[in-house]
Amino acid sequence: MPPIKLTLNGKPWSVDADPDMPLLWAVREIAGQTGSKFGCGAAQCGACTMHVDGQPVRSCSTPIGSIAGSKVTTIEGLEGKVSKAVQDAWIKLDVVQCGYCQSGQIMSAVALLTDTPKPTDQDIDSAMSGNLCRCSTYVRIRAAIHEAAKALEI
Ligand code: FES
Ligand code: FES
Repeated sequence: MPPIKLTLNGKPWSVDADPDMPLLWAVREIAGQTGSKFGCGAAQCGACTMHVDGQPVRSCSTPIGSIAGSKVTTIEGLEGKVSKAVQDAWIKLDVVQCGYCQSGQIMSAVALLTDTPKPTDQDIDSAMSGNLCRCSTYVRIRAAIHEAAKALEI
């Protein structure tokens, strides 16, 4: 089987893997980038969220063969002003509790603010509804997204 080629965090990546292997497995086990977490393995919790061509996807349920040629970004490869504003707001509002869900939360928040620079509470709740947090940091997450949106206006 020929290797699967794509871009991971801005660099070309050629993966010798079964096309059915979940993207999350390939990134964690083959590329050794462990910022994206395994939670449910069933597209229900969002812990594994990555961007594929700029859109948030559940990497535990995305076969790597289905995204050949795509640009994949994980928490390790986030860059740019939106991601900086989000990460600064997360620190300022002390969002994180145990941290397990937070790389997925940040990936979804960056995707939301990239498409919707001034989200309403409803926009936030709907964009973030697939990212669960066992520690219930939802109120701080929502506040941090508003804070990042405000910082991006300046
Ligand atoms: S681990 Fe992928 S959605 Fe839960
Ligand atoms: S911070 Fe603990 S699961 Fe979200």
